[in-house]
Amino acid sequence: MAEIEVKDLCKEFTTYVRGHGLAGSVGSLLSRNRTVRKAVNHVGFIVEKGEMVGYVGPNGAGKSTTIKMLTGILYPTSGTVRVCGLCPSKDRKHNLMHIGTVFGQRTQLWWDLPLIESLELLRYIYKVSTKSYKENIERFCDILDIDEFMQTPVRQLSLGQRMRGDLAAALLHDPDILYLDEPTIGLDVVAKERIRLFIAELNRERKTTVVLTTHDLTDIGTLCRRIIIIDTGRIIYDGPVEEIRKRFGSESSLLVVFKEEPRGLSLQDAEEIVVDGLQARIRFDRRRIAASDLIGALLKEYPVSDLTIEDTSLERIIREIYLEGKLDAGLS
Ligand SMILES: Nc1ncnc2c1ncn2[C@@H]1O[C@H](COP(=O)(O)OP(=O)(O)OP(=O)(O)O)[C@@H](O)[C@H]1O
Ligand SMILES: [Mg+2]
Repeated sequence: MAEIEVKDLCKEFTTYVRGHGLAGSVGSLLSRNRTVRKAVNHVGFIVEKGEMVGYVGPNGAGKSTTIKMLTGILYPTSGTVRVCGLCPSKDRKHNLMHIGTVFGQRTQLWWDLPLIESLELLRYIYKVSTKSYKENIERFCDILDIDEFMQTPVRQLSLGQRMRGDLAAALLHDPDILYLDEPTIGLDVVAKERIRLFIAELNRERKTTVVLTTHDLTDIGTLCRRIIIIDTGRIIYDGPVEEIRKRFGSESSLLVVFKEEPRGLSLQDAEEIVVDGLQARIRFDRRRIAASDLIGALLKEYPVSDLTIEDTSLERIIREIYLEGKLDAGLS
C-alpha cells in the first residue's frame, strides 16, 4: 500500500463579493455575488514510503490547499485522500500520529512559551515515551542546535531559530511523513542549507517520507528526485526532476568578455546574442551545437579574453514552464 494516495481530489472555495459603496453593501444583503474558485482541480498522485517529493507551482496554484487536505485541516470538496490507510479529514486524530507538519508562514509553537515548554506540551499531546523524547531532544540539540534557545519564548526567536524549533516540534513523535510548506521562506543562505541537510539526513536515516512545497528551487534540486508541478489547481507534470532538466535544460549560455568591442557579432547556431560593451551573452542549444564547436567558431573570428559556460538553472526552466506553458508543447 502506498503511503499517500490522492485520487481525483478537488477543493472549491466559495466567496461572496459585495458591490461598491453603501448601495452595494445594502444590495449585497439581498444578492451577493457568488464566485466559486477551484483551488484544487482533479489532482491525483501516489507517494511511496521514503520518497521525497517537491510540490511546486506559482502563487495561488493550490499547493497549500492540497497540503491542508493531506493533513486533514481541510475537507475535500470531492475525491479521496488516503494517508497510511486513513482518511485524514475524517480520522484526524489518528492521522496526526503519522504526520508532522511545518508551515513556514506560521508557527505551530506556542508564541508566549519558551520552546522547551512547547515541546513538553507536544510530548504530552502525542504521548511520546520518555525514552524517545529524550533521544529526540538530544538529536535535535545535536543537529539543529536548538539548545541555544530552548528557554527563549518563541516570539523572541529569529526566523531561522523558530523554523528549527518548528521542525523539532513536528518530528518529536517520529512521524512517518513530514509535510513542509515553504520551510525555508525568508531564511538566509546558510540557514536554508542547514535545514536542507537536516531534512536529507532525516529521510536517509529514518526513511521519513517528505512532501515539500517551496518557491526555492534549490530546495527541490538538492532534496527531491521527483517533482510535481501544479498550476491553477491542476497537475501539469509529475516525474523525475532530471527529466525536466534533460528536456528543457539543453539550453546553455556562453558568457564572453572580448578584448575589443565585437562589432556585428553573429554566430551561426546561436539562439540569441546579447552584447553589452565588451561583454556578450550567447544563448545556444546543446542539442544543436556542442559548446566546443561554438567556442571554436567564436575564437576564430573574435579576440576573446574570458569565457564561461552557464547551464540553465532549474529555476529558469520552471519559470519558463509557468510562463510559457512549455510543458504543453514538450511533454504531452
Ligand atoms: N480559505 C480560502 N478561502 C477562499 N479562497 C482560498 C482559501 N484558501 C485558498 N484560497 C484560494 O485558493 C487558491 C489556491 O491557494 P493556495 O494557498 O493553495 O495556493 P499556493 O499554491 O499555496 O500559493 P502560494 O505559493 O502563494 O502559497 C488561491 O486562489 C487562493 O486565493
Ligand atoms: Mg502556499
